[in-house]
Amino acid sequence: MVDLDNIKNIAVIGGGIMGSGIAQVALLSGYEKVTVIDLDTEILHKSKELIQERIKALETEENYLKFLNANNMEDPVLKNLDIKRKLDKSESVGILAENVDTKTIMSRLKLETDISEGVKDAHFVIEAVTEKLELKQKIFKYLGEYSPPNTILASNTSAMSITKIGQHSGRPEKVIGMHFHTFFPILGMLIEITPGEKSSDESLKVSQTIAQKFPCLIGKRFTVQLEKETAGLIANRISLPSGIYFEWLIDYTLDSGFSFEQLGALNFVFGLTDSIGLDTSYNILKYFEEHVSPDFAPGKLLTKLINAGRVGKKVGKGYLDWNENGSIENPPLIDEKATEFLMPHLDAEVFSALSLNEACRLLEEGVVTSYRLIDKIIFKGISMPGPFREGKGKYKEFSKKLYDLAEKTGKSYFKPCKMMESGKFLSYR
Ligand SMILES: NC(=O)c1ccc[n+]([C@@H]2O[C@H](COP(=O)([O-])OP(=O)(O)OC[C@H]3O[C@@H](n4cnc5c(N)ncnc54)[C@H](O)[C@@H]3O)[C@@H](O)[C@H]2O)c1
Repeated sequence: MVDLDNIKNIAVIGGGIMGSGIAQVALLSGYEKVTVIDLDTEILHKSKELIQERIKALETEENYLKFLNANNMEDPVLKNLDIKRKLDKSESVGILAENVDTKTIMSRLKLETDISEGVKDAHFVIEAVTEKLELKQKIFKYLGEYSPPNTILASNTSAMSITKIGQHSGRPEKVIGMHFHTFFPILGMLIEITPGEKSSDESLKVSQTIAQKFPCLIGKRFTVQLEKETAGLIANRISLPSGIYFEWLIDYTLDSGFSFEQLGALNFVFGLTDSIGLDTSYNILKYFEEHVSPDFAPGKLLTKLINAGRVGKKVGKGYLDWNENGSIENPPLIDEKATEFLMPHLDAEVFSALSLNEACRLLEEGVVTSYRLIDKIIFKGISMPGPFREGKGKYKEFSKKLYDLAEKTGKSYFKPCKMMESGKFLSYR
């Protein structure tokens, strides 16, 4: 039996975008020790600096606003948070208490390059290494060998099978998925908990409780447990068809004679993908290509950028170029002709239809049993209405749009599934 009161040490494997963000929320949850493990000390020190900067931002309202400013986070929701009220609470719920400062919190952070040393006294492990199945399998084998036998092993994978990730761990009943939906865990409410085929109810329950305790600044932490595992979980899976459509559109526009510098109308897509990491997006698509449909094969431009090492904001270059302050340098311009070319392909209802279709597939497969829950998950994950809100009344015309889209792009995956076309989803309240 796992005793929640005995979970005092958390180990995070990987100190990149996600590992640093997860370590931050784990430190703010008040754990006695949070150990970040990565390949070398340079990466670990970069991670430490990032965590420190983000915790310092929570000391005072002034620090918080400065931090948002320095990171180009102009979002009015973030700017208008009642940070003072939040900061007033105790650290145990994740917000800096009056008598706690960054130094005290950071003293509980440990850095480690040797995984056996880093997890030997860990009571809960969260893996957040590069999205490669063989790598994750190797890490879970080590975790099974070196961490205490009762320790639950969680993976932050965005797409991959928890059963496969944990198959060499020696304790599949203690392996679960714990997916933080945004690349800034303290600013995203949604955490999806996924069972592998052999995960025990106890491991899932303990993981839910731990996830629920991770602080979130923009609202109450929202955790959801999937009925069963599926590639891409819920929120990512629903948005992925739109992702491959965007990629198709980028390649199609470039093949039609426009240059990348003219594609300013798509800067929002470039900026978001750069922030997530092009390598992460690419690896997810490769996984989907192999396990779901060849229609997910990464596009030409994305593949070219990956081969050139342009993996996103984390290295200062992806679709866009980024300077040291995290701002975009010389972005593509909004060109009238290119925008005119793009506009007919940017019908908002097509994106709604793609999301509805994927959400219906999740119901069809039994990953979730209620469409209302899917809408709630999407709202908590990306602060947007879920696909069924509009789709309930428009699924027939949306289905037609998807047949047209499948024909235009040559991607048969875009065709509507039976659950969507028939409207049967309406009975899955
Ligand atoms: N980026 C996102 O928006 C996002 C969101 C949710 C989930 N995820 C998932 O989180 C995981 C990590 O993604 P990320 O964006 O943090 O990637 P990242 O590239 O920023 O970080 C990955 C880290 O793993 C480290 N690593 C690689 N091999 C290792 C090893 N053998 N031992 C220890 N560390 C090792 C790398 O050095 C790197 O620091 C992936 O599974 C990804 O799918 C990413």
